[in-house]
Amino acid sequence: MEHKSTGLKRIVLGITGGVAAYKAAELARLLVKRGLDVQVVMTQAASHFIGAATFQAITGHPVFADLWDERVDNGMAHIDLSRGADAILVAPASADFLAKLAQGRADDLLTTLCLARDCPLLAAPAMNRQMWESPATQRNLARLAEDEIAMLGPASGEQACGETGFGRMLEPEHLVDDLEAYFQPKRLKGVKVLMTAGPTYEAIDAVRGITNRSSGKMGYALARAALEAGAEVTLVTGPTGMATPEGAQVQHVVSAQQMLEAVEVRIGEADIFIAVAAVADYYVLNPSENKIKKDAHILTLELAPNPDILANVTAKAAPPFCVGFAAESENLEEYAELKRKRKHLPLIVANDVKEAIGSDSVQLILLDDAGRHVLEQADKRTQARRLIEHIARLYNARRP
Ligand code: C5P
Repeated sequence: MEHKSTGLKRIVLGITGGVAAYKAAELARLLVKRGLDVQVVMTQAASHFIGAATFQAITGHPVFADLWDERVDNGMAHIDLSRGADAILVAPASADFLAKLAQGRADDLLTTLCLARDCPLLAAPAMNRQMWESPATQRNLARLAEDEIAMLGPASGEQACGETGFGRMLEPEHLVDDLEAYFQPKRLKGVKVLMTAGPTYEAIDAVRGITNRSSGKMGYALARAALEAGAEVTLVTGPTGMATPEGAQVQHVVSAQQMLEAVEVRIGEADIFIAVAAVADYYVLNPSENKIKKDAHILTLELAPNPDILANVTAKAAPPFCVGFAAESENLEEYAELKRKRKHLPLIVANDVKEAIGSDSVQLILLDDAGRHVLEQADKRTQARRLIEHIARLYNARRP
């Protein structure tokens, strides 16, 4: 079997001596669940924290720990194991293991097969805060970065030793996400992507405003997927309360007018513009600086149309490759195609507003010059990756 979005088949999961080794059992289970063939290699120290039988039961393979293992016919377990692997993930990776790796030492099976590898190596550090912060560990990490060994984490938080700080191993779910992200095809390497996301907020007075129920989830997932594909991402976002996608340049705005200005400043640089934001169609003329006092009369708000940010961009002399979204509650494809034509878009993404707003799982219909493509119901992260793949294909086909 092959892992869907990355093409990975076989992975060596290295486990070194640390309390977090107990979490490696869950990690192994999640990797197997994603369709990977997982071969566990433990250090002597790891076996003090967790038993090999656990991993054998989860992965369906015997665990290796010894350089002199007689089960390997040619007596070269390190070569045998690393030769068949598409990746090595060491989790938890102790301070001692990172030090050995930085020096290129090979005094046990795991360090030896890391040295003898012909595939990417990723490590999830796990150690006490002071060990993590120590100049020696930091020196080793700099050396490992030069050697293109990827570090996943660590996280900050409560530690088994009672301290709080950096050094906690990332949670298994997080590690699997990061591993998947690392192996996404780099279809947009070096491409500059500008995006809008989230709702806008149009002030009525000092404390009230008009907004909509856009969560920003799709836009943020798309920003992440573009980053994973190797793009340089700038995200202009309305108020969402979502965590900033790591590696993106983020500009926070409130109103549609501010969003337009932020896009105008950056659009000259962009190769691709993706307008995911649910921009308010109207803003309030003359919002009150103070809170409007309640009284018995009818209150009339005067609304004026907001600028269409996407239409502004496509009207430029040499616009970037533009992608629009159409959230509709009826006649989905018909309205979306009309919008695509009106805004001169090579691609529009249609979704049913009733199912899409705030939810984690959506179906998307892509409309482009070649017709319609359905991205069957899936979580927003999966949809974002599929959509970036489609955008990259169209964009790369147009490149000289
Ligand atoms: O609101 P509408 O359905 O026209 O949105 C279609 C596309 O246009 C979306 O991609 C949205 O982000 C973009 N848009 C915009 N500025 C507006 C309205 C919509 O960029 N004022």
